[in-house]
Amino acid sequence: MWNRGMLNLTGIQEDEVLGHVYDELPGDWPDLLLETAAQSTFESISEIAIKSKPRELQLIAYRVRLKDFGSACVVHLHDMSRRKQHTDRYIHQQRMESLGRLAGGIAHDFNNILTIIRGNALVLRNDESLSDKQRSVSESVIKATQKGAAMINRLLTFSKPQPFTPYPLDIANLVDETMSLVSHADWERIQVETEMEPDLPSVKGDANRLSQVLVNLFVNARDAMPEGGTLSVVVQRRNFLTPSELPQAGVDPGTYLLIAVSDTGVGIPRDVQDRIFEPFFTTKSTGKGTGLGLPNVHSIVKQHGGWVDLESSDGEGSTFTVYLPAAPED
Ligand SMILES: Nc1ncnc2c1ncn2[C@@H]1O[C@H](COP(=O)(O)OP(=O)(O)OP(=O)(O)O)[C@@H](O)[C@H]1O
Ligand SMILES: [Mg+2]
Repeated sequence: MWNRGMLNLTGIQEDEVLGHVYDELPGDWPDLLLETAAQSTFESISEIAIKSKPRELQLIAYRVRLKDFGSACVVHLHDMSRRKQHTDRYIHQQRMESLGRLAGGIAHDFNNILTIIRGNALVLRNDESLSDKQRSVSESVIKATQKGAAMINRLLTFSKPQPFTPYPLDIANLVDETMSLVSHADWERIQVETEMEPDLPSVKGDANRLSQVLVNLFVNARDAMPEGGTLSVVVQRRNFLTPSELPQAGVDPGTYLLIAVSDTGVGIPRDVQDRIFEPFFTTKSTGKGTGLGLPNVHSIVKQHGGWVDLESSDGEGSTFTVYLPAAPED
């Protein structure tokens, strides 16, 4: 027999196998079967390309003796590519967590130092015997500590996410509000399109943090289109009924809201894609980007029980898709 799973994994039809002697079988099968016959059990994990595109498959084969049938060979094929994807993501998550801990430790100690600098600069500024020049120097020290404090806040957002009280939110509304907040400066050449599915379920979460997620994605999209272009936002409902339909490990099946933010900008090359969620990874010039936007996006979305997907290729724009679990409907 040759079941549907074999057909799906190998692309070989039942009638190409049944009733044929082993050396008439397509691809690597004759060799695999010979090896099984020689060893009585055989196991390998390898890239097997039979008729479908090459995939990492685990192959387990063994000989059995069946009553009324004689000697038979049983072959199991197991698709490893999904598992590999999950393992890759898991390793990536661990890396992010350790980077987060490291950044959190630095932020904490650095914050103490900043507080001292700022406190002393404030004392200095209030000294009436200061010359104008000295006062202006102390002003700029204070300004720099403010910038530093803002940066540390962003660092702490992803390294030590604070708990929040979730409220039911209308995401379509949040998208509109956030868009009108950001799309003022430098947006002349950007065309904005939004497409919201009607009757969307709400999401339980923190409006400020989710708005921060959107700001980061919108601003990144704008930055990716220096010559202008189209920024489109699509909000839809998506059902993942079983764990196997979920593209992400560690999240629950159910209804999700998908927010896809696409631009027609410069795109992200493959090797850069692996790094963009890391803290401090930026391709922007010093002073323009700190590389803390996407780590925050990742951390906030994860805190809401969702995940982020990215699709992009060099020169062809990017789509960041955020999935958030829908609140149960009453
Ligand atoms: N839509 C996009 N198109 C092309 N590249 C992108 C896009 N979004 C992010 N990137 C790349 O990912 C990098 C990291 O993005 P991230 O938002 O974390 O930091 P940043 O934008 O550089 O700085 P910050 O957000 O802290 O001001 C960017 O420097 C850019 O190279
Ligand atoms: Mg950014």
